[in-house]
Amino acid sequence: MSNLQSGKLCQTMLTRLFKINPNEIDTQLIFEAADILKKGGLLAFPTETVYGLGANALDEKASKKIYAAKGRPSDNPLIAHISNMEMLEMVTKGDLSLAEILAKEFWPGPLTMILNKSEIVPYGTTGGLDTVAVRMPDRKVAKLIIENAGIPIAAPSANISGRPSATCVEHVIEDFDGRIDGIVDDGPARIGLESTIIDLTSDTPVLLRRGFIRAFEIEKVLGTPIEDTFGSKEPDKPKAPGMKYRHYAPKSTLYIVRNENKIKELVNSEQGKTIGVICCEENKGKYEKCNIYPIGKKSKGAEIAKNLFAALRRLDDDNIQVAFCEDFSNIDHGEAIMERLYRASGGKIIL
Ligand code: TXA
Ligand code: MG
Repeated sequence: MSNLQSGKLCQTMLTRLFKINPNEIDTQLIFEAADILKKGGLLAFPTETVYGLGANALDEKASKKIYAAKGRPSDNPLIAHISNMEMLEMVTKGDLSLAEILAKEFWPGPLTMILNKSEIVPYGTTGGLDTVAVRMPDRKVAKLIIENAGIPIAAPSANISGRPSATCVEHVIEDFDGRIDGIVDDGPARIGLESTIIDLTSDTPVLLRRGFIRAFEIEKVLGTPIEDTFGSKEPDKPKAPGMKYRHYAPKSTLYIVRNENKIKELVNSEQGKTIGVICCEENKGKYEKCNIYPIGKKSKGAEIAKNLFAALRRLDDDNIQVAFCEDFSNIDHGEAIMERLYRASGGKIIL
């Protein structure tokens, strides 16, 4: 365990780092990390999807600290993370029958459900909505922290608002060292994309964000079709408030390019700038006179999903001005990957 220190401006506090060995969990460290949450502080911790920036979901003041630390618009609600079904009942009201069916199949895991909120959940956590997003993460350390805190934990992805989500502790340190009370590190996130979000408050369940769990898997379990909002005709009025904000965006101008030969052409025409290409492992030898960011084999969509956010952050680290990314539509988990890329690029697609 150590205190992180560095000389960046705007740092006001010492951030404590809890280094935890997932194979030999030090329960005293879990207890001390959870204590930060109990006392109304901010603690970043790993989940199986991405790192989360946690605070007591039932304490409006604590939730507000999350918005301040991330620079997050206050109408963008937070997900309440729980460790058991009693907590689900605590934070919601109304019919839980669909939620229970999905929980049985997918929890703990990368699925967030939107339900009607109970009175104890403050509007400061739900961005003023009468609904609440709930998820039971599938990571031992996350579960132990929530259990020890004994309260639902509001946790958005642990990145400064607009930046790519944090998939390893280095990303969290980069964004929050000196700005939050603690960071728990037990290794990189296993999945690397945020959870699938499904809204269960209307007659037809609505998919608000694509993720590792696919629409067809949910439909199979529910036995009914669900609605997918991706590419909605009302992009300014999305049902998940967070979806209207620019997200995952690198500082460089990023384009998704459908054709690999077109990428070669574009790299040539942009010479003089620092250029990056995000591609599959198989194509890393194809491009010249640019920085190459291979993110996994095309045959292994899960690997590409896991490495995507780190690659977007590396574009910033390397001061890339223009970046081109291959099209990953036709691989496993391609839909969720392309949803992130679409938003990271601000919808800039070159055919
Ligand atoms: O995998 C994940 O879901 C990660 C980890 C840490 O659990 N968390 C995460 O949180 O991605 P965040 O805040 O980055 O994204 C949550 C999304 C936002 O787009 C937000 O607008 C939406 O969920 N959301 C939260 N509560 C909602 C609600 N009551 N109704 C509609 N959308 C909601
Ligand atoms: Mg996020």
